[in-house]
Parts: sequence; C-alpha cells; structure tokens
Amino acid sequence: MVRVAGARISCRNQMRAAIVNDPAARLELASRPAPQPGPGEIVVSVQCTSINPVDVYVATGQYTMGHLGYPLTPGHDFAGIVEQVGDQVSRFAPGDRVLGMWSKDIYGDGSWAELVTIPEEGLVAPWPNALEPAHAAALPLASLTAALAVDFVAPAAGEPVVVIGAAGAVGRYAVQLAAQRGARVIATARPGSEPAALELGARTTIDPAGDLTSQLRLALPGGVPALIDLVSGRRTLAGIAELVPAGGRIVSARFAADQEALAARQIRALNVRTYDAHGAMLAELARAAAAGVLTVALDDVVGFDELPSAVAQLATGDRVGKVVANLT
Ligand SMILES: NC(=O)c1ccc[n+]([C@@H]2O[C@H](COP(=O)([O-])OP(=O)(O)OC[C@H]3O[C@@H](n4cnc5c(N)ncnc54)[C@H](OP(=O)(O)O)[C@@H]3O)[C@@H](O)[C@H]2O)c1
Repeated sequence: MVRVAGARISCRNQMRAAIVNDPAARLELASRPAPQPGPGEIVVSVQCTSINPVDVYVATGQYTMGHLGYPLTPGHDFAGIVEQVGDQVSRFAPGDRVLGMWSKDIYGDGSWAELVTIPEEGLVAPWPNALEPAHAAALPLASLTAALAVDFVAPAAGEPVVVIGAAGAVGRYAVQLAAQRGARVIATARPGSEPAALELGARTTIDPAGDLTSQLRLALPGGVPALIDLVSGRRTLAGIAELVPAGGRIVSARFAADQEALAARQIRALNVRTYDAHGAMLAELARAAAAGVLTVALDDVVGFDELPSAVAQLATGDRVGKVVANLT
C-alpha cells in the first residue's frame, strides 16, 4: 500500500460537489455537507474523477434503470487519498493512495465531489505511484467492465473475438485484454481511426457505419465465436447474434442480450454489470496500467469547474471520448 507521508488529514464540514437537484435540473457545482464514514467505509479526498456514459445519463435526467434520490451527486470513478476511515476498516488507513469506483447500495453520493465514501470491500484498490492521477481516475469503471466481458468470453489463443464499440473507453480495454490473451480481435473503427485500434492489438477492423452483419460474414465465414457488443440495442444485437454458432459467447453492455433465447441455441450470454467486479480485479488492472502493459483510455482532462459543460456536450454528442475532471 502506498501511503502519502505527512498527508493533511482534515475533518471538514462542507465540500464542493456537482449536484443535480431534480431530474429536470441542470448539473451545477455547489456546496454539500462533507460525508462521514459509516462502519466499514472509507472517505476519499478526490484528486481526479471521470465521466462515464452512465454518469451522463444520471446527470441529465435520462437514467431509466432504477430509482434515484434527489438531490444527488453523480460520478463513479475516482483517484485520491484516504482522508478518514470508519469503524471496522482494516485494509486502508488515512493517507493511502487509492483509486476506485463508487459502489454502494443507493445511488446519490457519487464521486463528482471533493470527498466520496466507499465500503473498503467495494471497488477500491491501491493507486500505484507510476499511474498519473488522470489515468488512475479514467481507469476503474471502463476497464472493469471490459475485464468482466473478456473473462466471460474467455477466448482461446487464436480464437476470433469481435468488439463492437471498440473506439470507446470500454472497447479500448476490451480490445487490449482480449488481444493479450492471444485472441484474434476484430474491432469496429471509423475511417481514420483504424491505426489506433490496430495499435491496441486488433488484428482487423470493420467500419461501424457500414452493415456490420455483412462485414462480419465476410471477415468470419465460419461464424462469430465470441462477441463483445458495447453499442447495439436488443434488435440489432439479435441480428448480429444470428452469426454466432452453438458454443459461442456474447456479452452486451447495453442489457440487450436475450439470454433465454440464446441459451436455447447453446450460446452463453452475459448482460455485463460492472458492480459484479471486485477490488482485486481493479488492483490488477491498475498494476497493468502502471506498468504500461495496459494503455489507459483517456481523451481529455478538464478542470472541475468545466465538468458541467463537458457533461452537457457529451449528452448532446457535441463531444465524444473519455473525459477526466481534475479537482486539485
Ligand atoms: N452494463 C454496464 O455495467 C456498463 C458499464 C460500462 C459501460 N456500459 C455501456 O457501454 C457503452 C460503452 O461505454 P464506454 O464507456 O465505452 O462509452 P464511450 O467511451 O462514450 O464510447 C461510446 C462510443 O463513442 C464513440 N467514441 C468514444 N470515444 C471515442 C474517441 N476517442 N474517438 C472516436 N469515437 C469515440 C465510439 O463510437 P463508435 O463505436 O460509433 O465509433 C464509442 O463506441 C455505453 O452505452 C455504456 O453505457 C455499460
């Protein structure tokens, strides 16, 4: 564990945080009461946080998967220093450098804040010295999702794995992790971004703007044995899944896989949920990123004040890519 010598451990009453007051309200920066750690929880002083698609949905009132209590602070990823620990905490101490992903039961006090609480048994891991703050904050949610997906398809050496959405944050890790297992990765890449996908380990690229089914039929006449689809809704995925033979595996990040129908065709399918990951997986991914074995998906770093405008741009499509906000 890396501990920051002489770290200033304070007990503040208020903190700066991004807040949404109700589903129709705009994301704004405001003051919120500083959280106190419950039993088994740590409070982290956040240096950098990142924006994931789910955070954008939550911040713009478009989240449809469950109940949200308002006012809320969105945000999952963080890199920072442990500021306080609750009773029964044994793995972390004030001053520890950690990275992680918000992972509690009720959503509402996320990581777009100066302080975030997380159970020590949640998705939190030591933050290696060699990993820059922005990279550490860009890593958790996206890389864990990709790791779960690649673990599920468990490609054999030389086996083709198709990654749809490979230019996104999750996709970039999925390409790398599958290629590192020896898979023959076929990745979506728009014209001009093929070299980036090949650099990460893809063997071939296909254009996501074209007809994916025909391109895949051409690339893999024997069928698609393993598919990681981060983009398609139910209907599109059902069409692509026609190319997957018995014994094949499918992962959807959009909860679009009809697991029952696919099981009837002897296809194993997973609608991946990042919350099913664990801290040890994150520690391993962080070590790989620190060692330069895993390239971190990061496109831009903005100041915390610019977070609301970055979120608004991502929501409208005026901006794409992985954005980190720096709170220091
Ligand atoms: N179920 C879960 O637990 C879970 C967890 C994480 C994510 N997800 C979902 O998985 C999907 C992908 O997540 P993500 O974090 O990978 O999203 P993302 O980084 O925003 O990527 C989404 C898409 O944006 C485009 N894009 C992103 N970065 C780009 C860049 N630098 N250059 C060019 N195009 C870029 C790509 O479009 P094209 O592919 O069209 O080029 C990419 O597929 C989202 O729908 C998210 O909600 C689900």
